[in-house]
Amino acid sequence: MKKLTIGTIKQRKNDKAIVMITAYDALFARLFQESADILLVGDSLNMSFGGNLDTLSTTMDQMIYHANAVCKGAPDTFVICDMPFGTYNDQSSALANAIRVYRETPADAVKIEGGADKALLVKHLVNNGIAVCGHIGLLPQSVRAEGGYKVKGKSEEEALSLIADAQAIENAGAFILVIEGVKADVASRVAASVRIPVIGIGAGNGVDGQVLVFSDMLGLYEPFVPKFVKQYMNGAAAVKHAVAEYKSEVQSKVFPDEHYTY
Ligand code: KIV
Repeated sequence: MKKLTIGTIKQRKNDKAIVMITAYDALFARLFQESADILLVGDSLNMSFGGNLDTLSTTMDQMIYHANAVCKGAPDTFVICDMPFGTYNDQSSALANAIRVYRETPADAVKIEGGADKALLVKHLVNNGIAVCGHIGLLPQSVRAEGGYKVKGKSEEEALSLIADAQAIENAGAFILVIEGVKADVASRVAASVRIPVIGIGAGNGVDGQVLVFSDMLGLYEPFVPKFVKQYMNGAAAVKHAVAEYKSEVQSKVFPDEHYTY
């Protein structure tokens, strides 16, 4: 698949749905590149791979390590790297950390959580040559402050606030926007209110594309399966079955037979 650019991504507004999936390493990025338009090195890796309860302890160094691995696995795929919690509290630290992503990895863009309150910061990054993906609605980095993961867009007031957030992020220069955990009808209104593609996760089908966390959609992450996650395979069962078979063959000395022996 030909690598997308900021320009061709923007052209996908109201066009062919954009397929985004998270990737954290070269191994899976290589497998996803055939089907994914965009790979997101999400800080969700801190939960599924790091074993933590939320994304908040992710560091810039970790994101840089994983972004490099993903770019190596899928060198011809557009890659967005999440900016972790606490790395974009003000314009100068946000720019310094975004510059680290560009200097230390080949990733194409960074993602920042937040709406109108982050517009000036997004503008500062864009004005300094950084391509920014916005992220509004349910913000995983706010889970402790909000006391849980709360679906957004349940009232007209919240709907209008999400539309204002999307427009502020678009006007600040973001080229794409992720909308998470929002009532489907409201997410459609948000998508219709901006000219940049809006990518949904738990936000229904009235948007310009979808993103899922890969370990969720492959059924690998067992602790919690959100309602919006469709598991396209039972990865956990497949892996457990394979490892149990390996165990049995090792213990019974069936493996390795002469076929696997020098
Ligand atoms: O970190 C992540 O994987 C994300 C997705 C949930 C969009 O931000």
